[in-house]
Amino acid sequence: MSQRRSDLDISVGVRGAFVGQARFCEQLGSPFTALLCRVLADGLDPGNDLERSILDWRGDPGPFGDSLPLRLAGALHGLVRAGRVPPLAALYPPHPPADPRRLLAAVRSALCEHADLVREFLRHPPQTNEVGRAPLLLAGWLEIAARTGYPLCLFELGASAGLNLIADRYAYQFGDVPWRPAAPGPGVHEASAEVTLACSWSGSLPPLDAPLQIRSRRGCDRHPLDVTDPVQRARLMAYVWADQGVRLERLDAAMRAMQSRPVLIETGEAQQWLPAVLPPASEPNVTRVVFHSIFWSYLDPAAQQRIAAHLASVGAAASAERPLAWLRLELAGRDEPAVLRLTLWPGGADEVLARAHPHGAYARWRE
Ligand SMILES: C[S@@+](CC[C@H](N)C(=O)[O-])C[C@H]1O[C@@H](n2cnc3c(N)ncnc32)[C@H](O)[C@@H]1O
Repeated sequence: MSQRRSDLDISVGVRGAFVGQARFCEQLGSPFTALLCRVLADGLDPGNDLERSILDWRGDPGPFGDSLPLRLAGALHGLVRAGRVPPLAALYPPHPPADPRRLLAAVRSALCEHADLVREFLRHPPQTNEVGRAPLLLAGWLEIAARTGYPLCLFELGASAGLNLIADRYAYQFGDVPWRPAAPGPGVHEASAEVTLACSWSGSLPPLDAPLQIRSRRGCDRHPLDVTDPVQRARLMAYVWADQGVRLERLDAAMRAMQSRPVLIETGEAQQWLPAVLPPASEPNVTRVVFHSIFWSYLDPAAQQRIAAHLASVGAAASAERPLAWLRLELAGRDEPAVLRLTLWPGGADEVLARAHPHGAYARWRE
């Protein structure tokens, strides 16, 4: 009896996670993924092995746990994109919104036909690399370059595939005002001009004419993604919501830019990696920039404290010829815009540069 009751609680929890995810998707502009999550919340059937194992999920299925609904949505989108489930693909964007009963039937048949592949997908946490954040990060680099006047050595924490570590290779529209990347060196094949990232910008502009020179780039992630591998590229695309065509297009173009001149992201825990790659002593006339986006909340307090303490102690050794910057675009709280902050040493003054949509759809610079 108690076993049956606990099973019931778990499946209510899983169904509830799908409903909760549907609400998030509605707020974040993905009505299709919202519909898919609602259909799954109602329609997952414990009579089928795979669906039963989803309903019996042993961890926390919710958005602050294992994000089970996004694992499943990613698996289904991956199958659709790979051309393996034509009847389901016919109900996916860009086709018009599907009738929920037809959608459920097509989803269940896809799950049944590709159960092993779906199980494999469910084993991994969803992982994204949102290049919509690049306008904010580039604006921060320009601000730092304008203030310090030196080439930048970049260090990205939680870099995922490193697509924001090459933000200077993309073209931008800051509202009506364009910014173009410097021409690559002679003989360098460069695909980046294909990407133009548009951000609805308000407030003043960042110093768009600042001389931006990137001396070096290093990034780390606990699960780095390598976009020269087609399987990893397909996985990154699958986690983008199927009705968010602009995000899909810019991710695809950014991955091509990365493939044409790859930056290898190192495997590591940021709280251990940073002290190893950022010693207090540094060469003169370069600015070291440590940056991250939508990463901080993944750390436990001890890891956050370790990174902040290391930056403070390296910052204490900084000088006008050896500046250190800490730039971060992080969530301020539920239902709050993300905040772009800059701490610059020597001095360690800390300021808010912008408030922005977490995917970079809009930014309010110094407002
Ligand atoms: C939400 S993603 C953001 C990725 C990227 N910064 C962006 O803006 O698209 C968070 C990333 O942080 C990584 N991560 C989480 N904790 C980490 C840690 N302790 N050390 C290194 N990477 C970590 C995850 O693997 C994931 O790639």
